[in-house]
Amino acid sequence: MWWQEAVVYQIYPRSYFSTGTGVGDLRGIIERLDHIVDLCVDAIWMSPVYCSPHADHGYDVSDYFDIDPLFGTMADFDDLLAAAHARGLRVLLDMVPNHTSDQHAWFIEAVQAGPGSAARDRYLFRDGRGPDGSLPPTDTVCSFGGGTVWTRITEADGTPGQWYFHLFTPEQPDLNWAQPQVLAEFERIWRFWLDKGVDGFRVDVADHLTKDVDRTDMPEGNQLLEHDGHNRTHQVWQHLRRVLDSYDGQRTAVGEVWARGAEHAGYAVDFPTTFAFDVLKADWDAAKLRAAISGAMWERDELGATPAWVVDNHDTPRTATRLGPGQTGVHRSLAMTQLLLSLPGSVYLYQGQELGLPNVDDLPDEVLADPIWARSDFTDRGRDGCRVPLPWSGDEPSFGFAPPGVKPWLPQPAAFADLTIERQRTNPDSFLNTVRKLVRLRHEHPALRCGSFRWLDSPDGVLAFERSCEADRVVFMVNMSDTPVSLPAGTVVAGDVRGQLPPDRAVWLAGA
Ligand code: BGC
Repeated sequence: MWWQEAVVYQIYPRSYFSTGTGVGDLRGIIERLDHIVDLCVDAIWMSPVYCSPHADHGYDVSDYFDIDPLFGTMADFDDLLAAAHARGLRVLLDMVPNHTSDQHAWFIEAVQAGPGSAARDRYLFRDGRGPDGSLPPTDTVCSFGGGTVWTRITEADGTPGQWYFHLFTPEQPDLNWAQPQVLAEFERIWRFWLDKGVDGFRVDVADHLTKDVDRTDMPEGNQLLEHDGHNRTHQVWQHLRRVLDSYDGQRTAVGEVWARGAEHAGYAVDFPTTFAFDVLKADWDAAKLRAAISGAMWERDELGATPAWVVDNHDTPRTATRLGPGQTGVHRSLAMTQLLLSLPGSVYLYQGQELGLPNVDDLPDEVLADPIWARSDFTDRGRDGCRVPLPWSGDEPSFGFAPPGVKPWLPQPAAFADLTIERQRTNPDSFLNTVRKLVRLRHEHPALRCGSFRWLDSPDGVLAFERSCEADRVVFMVNMSDTPVSLPAGTVVAGDVRGQLPPDRAVWLAGA
């Protein structure tokens, strides 16, 4: 199956390319598809483009069957799908099943319909505590900041009413997955997009669907999630997997599953692929990385799961800064990208990762748009730093991202001038051209794409493994220690080596 070894490029549509307003759009993606094609990747995943009031930048969906006017129209979407397919790129959409927007027709109906109604039962409504119900049903706090996981509504007659549960913002009410209509509706949504020809979905907070919201012994919302092997969440994914598999064309899904260990393994068999977030969380630590990779490889070898390797996405500070400081972070980010591209499974690259973009940590307070900023009482700056629009060309903002004179929705730093796609294209040794070469080599080497995997002995702070497929054998090595290390025998296929492997660098060797 293509997705078992694919390289997928994550587009954050707001920040890819804007043809008009300073917010990226679908026509912008069509116009700049060649950048992605040139990277030799197999597929794109787009963060949500459905209708949304954008309380959480599209992860609050008000209509799953249409495109938000901010991004364009359904005709634009159809054009994008056709343009991507014509260039050999598969298209994955983001599916958000845990919650809807509070502007979704179902939620509006639930508020109007009143306590005990079938409409209310599609969400998680409860009566408040205290004589007048003015205390939230439990004391559980939201893992997304802002205090309680409960918000009280005003009933249709104007009186203070019931409370509803939300793991994220109040604008994102959680659905009640014990209610069969919810699954039926999501099956309809999946079929709608699969019938259109999309190749699959990235599934948002895939392990969050079932939770016991009445529990009072867990302080945080995320601790209410049910992970046992038979819970409804697994049943949902097994059902929707059968829907996927009933389509031709090798449709797929990748689960955003933050659960760990045995719980992660449960979802890793439900989904065609699941993100191996332990690798992302290991940062620049050889021992932790080795354990994280081994865990995902165990799921692969023992359960037939396909890991989705990832270190950058729209929720996480960019590796070029996170693994810093300074230029060290840039070298490490490149080495991490090479590590991912060396592993069996699918690889996810987040837009801008191919440019070595830094996280923009000094955005002015007044432009911060992530709901986490306000919900944390302005203490947690949130995720905007990794969502700053891409620099395409030129020497000053918006670096070709938006039409002249139009301000991007988040300001770009002056330092982006050296990192534009235009500038990096002309330098054969640029970050961009190196990543492009790595992706191309992964495609060319059967060993890297689909060969066997074996750890090799290596000094402390160094990871080394071998991939091999018949006569093709590639050794990967990354130096996370602070001294240079000797290289094993072999010809350097890719890597910045000088006789030895310097700290913070990775290499591929062939023919050893
Ligand atoms: C998405 C986030 C979003 C959250 C709530 C996540 O895991 O990746 O961007 O804020 O789900 O939908």
